[in-house]
Amino acid sequence: MSIRFIESEQRFVLETRQTTYQIKIDKTGCLRHVYYGKRVGDTDMDYLYRTTDRGFSGNPYEFQDDRTCSFDTMPQEYPTFGVGDYRVSALRCLAKNGSRSTDLRYASYEIREGKYKLEGLPYVRGGDEKVETLFIRLKDSVTGIAVDLMYGVFEEKDVITRSACIRNESQETVILQKAASMCLDIPYGADDLISFNGRHCMERQPFRQRLGQNIVTVGSKRGMSSHHNNPFVILCDAETTEDSGESRGVMLMYSGSHKEEIEKDQAGTVRLVAGIQDEGFSWILDPGDIFWTPEAILSFSFDGLNGLSANYHRIIRENVCDPMFRNKRRPVLLNSWEASYFSFNEKTIYELAVQAKDLGADMLVLDDGWFGSRDSDNSGLGDWTVNEQKLKGGLTALSDKVHDLGLQFGLWIEPEMVNENSDLYRMHPDWALSDPGRKPNVARNQLVLDMSREDVREYLFSCINALLKESRIEYLKWDFNRSPANIYSHLLPPEKQGEVMHRFVLGVYSLLARIREAYPEVLIEGCAGGGGRFDAGMLFYTPQIWCSDNTDPIARLFIQEGTSYGYPACTVGSHVSASPNHQTGRTTPLSTRGIVASSGILGYELNPASLSDAEKGEIRAQIETYKKYEHLIREGTYYRLKENHSGAETVCWAFVSPEKDEALVNLVSVNVAAKTPFPHIKLKGLREDAVYMIDRTGLRTTGAALMYGGCSFDIPEGDYPCTQLHLTEIPG
Ligand code: DGJ
Repeated sequence: MSIRFIESEQRFVLETRQTTYQIKIDKTGCLRHVYYGKRVGDTDMDYLYRTTDRGFSGNPYEFQDDRTCSFDTMPQEYPTFGVGDYRVSALRCLAKNGSRSTDLRYASYEIREGKYKLEGLPYVRGGDEKVETLFIRLKDSVTGIAVDLMYGVFEEKDVITRSACIRNESQETVILQKAASMCLDIPYGADDLISFNGRHCMERQPFRQRLGQNIVTVGSKRGMSSHHNNPFVILCDAETTEDSGESRGVMLMYSGSHKEEIEKDQAGTVRLVAGIQDEGFSWILDPGDIFWTPEAILSFSFDGLNGLSANYHRIIRENVCDPMFRNKRRPVLLNSWEASYFSFNEKTIYELAVQAKDLGADMLVLDDGWFGSRDSDNSGLGDWTVNEQKLKGGLTALSDKVHDLGLQFGLWIEPEMVNENSDLYRMHPDWALSDPGRKPNVARNQLVLDMSREDVREYLFSCINALLKESRIEYLKWDFNRSPANIYSHLLPPEKQGEVMHRFVLGVYSLLARIREAYPEVLIEGCAGGGGRFDAGMLFYTPQIWCSDNTDPIARLFIQEGTSYGYPACTVGSHVSASPNHQTGRTTPLSTRGIVASSGILGYELNPASLSDAEKGEIRAQIETYKKYEHLIREGTYYRLKENHSGAETVCWAFVSPEKDEALVNLVSVNVAAKTPFPHIKLKGLREDAVYMIDRTGLRTTGAALMYGGCSFDIPEGDYPCTQLHLTEIPG
């Protein structure tokens, strides 16, 4: 049993392979957090909780004689607003009489085999492995609000999922003003916060900061998980490095506006509350209504940040992404966007397909510009029928011709958007989010459709259904190119406008779920101007995501490395593009572009007609190599490696097979210098006593030698050179 209730101590023990999580029902009936850390079994960790009378930290009425008893100093599982815990709260409700206080006390519990699901929201799938769920019900006897806290324990994977389900069991309407998914109180050992911040074309850059006695907020108000602040944070010890020390992660499985608040309080306890962004949010909970909060994925590692990443990679690969694509090699594609942008016709696209085939790719993807009046990014969104002036003969004929070449065919769509200059907008202006009497904010000249509306979703399903029915399409690129504003639905009454942003996200999920159900074999690649919605919520429906609009391999080194803290390489769409690069103007060798793009799901995004024969030959070899090592990239353990010796600036990473009998090591130098020492790296994750051979050098030596002594690299001369080593175990 990975979940136990120790009745005599009113204590829950949740156990994974390496961790123990303990919760206690306090004498006040409050659900107190006791411990999350290295496995300690049933040992009561409550001794760690020291109480004292801290001034200005009041006491629950029934314990007024015990001034050491305070919600304000107690580590809690789901703190509420208004009753004496002055730290960040997880739940804020407005009762009909105007009261904003909620006081949740323990009511009951249940332990079940298997993993709970969430209604209308993505969740970590249970699969075949051993998973148990703990439900703990809390209730406020005054407002009648009940909260079911849910814990999914993935024992083998060192992961605990959390979510809260809020029910109105009273006779009166209650308004939710904040409904977070979880709270984690950490009395000791969370010195640093790492968040993943950035911007369009430079997503998920790790930012590590020392916590002080204040509140740090990470989050997005953009209606999308955002390029700017990913819904994934890590709390770790000051000493934690890539390879040693404790770290715990919290990843919200949500694609809309989110908020992670990290507060260090007067006693040094660190509280982390994560959930839906509460700014602009409110939700009317009528009697009998239920509100489901998105799931949070928690993991703990004692093997540094690389260990934590490995935990997240595994759970995302095996339990978040659709099992249908888990062990499937993804197609190497040639995408038309950077090859021709909006200027193409059926002949040029067919020519691209011929070239793609010649290079050894598996699929041709027709990106933006194929529909409606879409000759630029100013018009056409919403009109999802082919522009026959551009593509004579239509999509079906084109797709058939591409298939005749022996290639698959993929198509770009951006369903959630509309241009004012489109038939759809002319017919249904009220389908766009916009405030009454106010000109809407525009971005890329487009507006956002009101995905909370069923008629909008129905229209979009019928368009996508027609496309997939009429033409042979094996892949959709699902784009989203602006942050929503003017969050107002013309269908909902005034008092429900605070629900629109979350209803929008639920609408997107339900449309995606419907398409997945109708066309399970169609692979959808998520995209939001690159990686603006790179989150576990989208990955539930779209097992790969276009990682960034920045295809410069040197920028990508850092974007992909930042992404790797939470997300596995098998989710990262990554393309070789032209040099000089279209986003940065930087010139890089084709080999480096190939190695960087091959560390995700490889694709190409250039016009092969502009390449020399030698370059085409190199690309053929790249694709062949990629296909040879693809299993390692998809399923191997990923390691961020550090080169500390030569003074040359390098980025280095490796994939090691689950059996540890094979590894692929990549190194890119980002700054040339003359006559530097050989870059030297200690490899990770090999078997000490196994003997490996390095393909490039022919060196045969043990895993112990390569991990503790390391190996040195030859770097070719010139700008941004790279090296790739492949290691295989020599059977002993
Ligand atoms: C943004 C995407 O990230 C690009 O790859 C491309 O599909 C454009 N949108 C098309 O408008």
